[in-house]
Amino acid sequence: MENIIASAVSQVGDTHHEAAPRRSPPGSFVIFGGGGDLTRRLLLPAIYNLACAGLLDDGFGIVAVDRADLTDEQLRDNVRAALEDFTARRGAEAVSLREDVWAWMLPRIRYVQGDFESVQTYQAVADVTAGQNCIFYLAVAARFFGPIVDRLGEAGLVREGPDAFRRVIVEKPFGHDLQSAIALNTRLLNTLEEQQIYRIDHYLGKETVQNILALRFSNGFFEPLWNRQNIDHVQITAAETVGVEQRAKFYEGTGALRDMVPNHVMQLLAMTAMEAPISFDADAVRNEKTKVLDAIHPLVPADVVRGQYAPGTVGAKAVPGYRQEPGVDPHSLTETYVAMKFGIDNWRWAGVPFYVRTGKRLAARKTEIAIHFKSAPYALFRDTPVDKLAPNIMVIHIQPTEGVTMQFSAKIPGPSVRLGGVRMKFDYAEWFSEGPSTGYETLIYDCMIGDATLFQRADNIEAGWRAVQPVLDWGQDARSLAFYAADSEGPEAADALLARDHRHWLKIG
Ligand code: BG6
Repeated sequence: MENIIASAVSQVGDTHHEAAPRRSPPGSFVIFGGGGDLTRRLLLPAIYNLACAGLLDDGFGIVAVDRADLTDEQLRDNVRAALEDFTARRGAEAVSLREDVWAWMLPRIRYVQGDFESVQTYQAVADVTAGQNCIFYLAVAARFFGPIVDRLGEAGLVREGPDAFRRVIVEKPFGHDLQSAIALNTRLLNTLEEQQIYRIDHYLGKETVQNILALRFSNGFFEPLWNRQNIDHVQITAAETVGVEQRAKFYEGTGALRDMVPNHVMQLLAMTAMEAPISFDADAVRNEKTKVLDAIHPLVPADVVRGQYAPGTVGAKAVPGYRQEPGVDPHSLTETYVAMKFGIDNWRWAGVPFYVRTGKRLAARKTEIAIHFKSAPYALFRDTPVDKLAPNIMVIHIQPTEGVTMQFSAKIPGPSVRLGGVRMKFDYAEWFSEGPSTGYETLIYDCMIGDATLFQRADNIEAGWRAVQPVLDWGQDARSLAFYAADSEGPEAADALLARDHRHWLKIG
């Protein structure tokens, strides 16, 4: 994380020249679920990108562990295909696979075939990793997290030595409610020390999410305004155009709230609302995040809207409603959209609502944080044609556009005083020419160098779940499910949530 902040500064001001990031320490990167989709689409391309950047030590190796019967050679062919696919998918940036990098990676890829629950699998992993530094990446279904860590412990594979670290990266979903998240933390902590556990939230791998801290704390003019005296409310949106895709089985038991809010949305909220940490040290940052999440006021039913997408059209194409998707119960009460109003009970934010919404099949793919400032006093304009002053809005665009927009009023040229809304925009792509990344590069590299700043500590995870637990406790109620058409702005009930407070959402589409 420190490297990231420093190098950003050097590019803008050209006043600060940071040494190139150091290479990772040598060691094995052991992927449980090494034959799976996450590995193919994201982890291997991220490792390839790190290799291209010269950030991996010559003593680095990948060990893929999975159930399929494969030889090392077959696995290597699959890895190559995955990397070719990744480089070809880069659209306008498409390039072919770098043969020099591939030649470097090839002998460093090993396969261990085995069941995740069987003792022999761990013996085989011990044989190939032979006492080196190890990162165990759990790219598996959540039900395996506990058993794999138990087995790693029994096999002595997570015992650290003076010269060998042992770390475990745990994917999402981390629990399905507060109680199960606490139980999983307890189980992992039976075997591992907290500082060996790297709980991943891929939103923290996004440059623009990391930029929230840089923006807030490396610029003098935001902090004095960043409070309840000046901010009217905050809107956080994580909108997707895709439907449930092939994931009905997982999604039916999960829904939009569990899938997106305690993790990704809470990370965005915490980064926006936290106090300044004393340093970028992992614990300093994570202490502040937990504090702000712990200050969230318990939700009440009137502040929550659950929605589900109905059939509709996207472009000219008819798309099914959620209940018509393959694998979904035709009477399903699972929400594909949720909007909520959070209050944060602390001195900085008391009285400032944080409205959040996330959903599938909405009018656009858009993740952003909009800070709505209080309007200026109107008195000066009483005798002019201006009938009201538009509020200033600062929008932090996370994806697909990456940047920041400031919206304010300016005088429209002419003899009378009239105001027009104008925008000032910082576009990441215009300033920085970073190559496309998966978002996992920083996270994997940080784990290698032992920097846990961008990973969640046990208490962060639990604080995220605690904030949404009241909604889970109310259960799924047919009356409380609002339907919305595909390609829309979401259910009307979500508009009403803000209209009640004389506010409205920024448009998604
Ligand atoms: C995942 C959710 O964690 O995040 C998915 O399980 C969702 O349902 C995805 O689509 C969104 O991630 P991103 O990076 O596309 O915003």
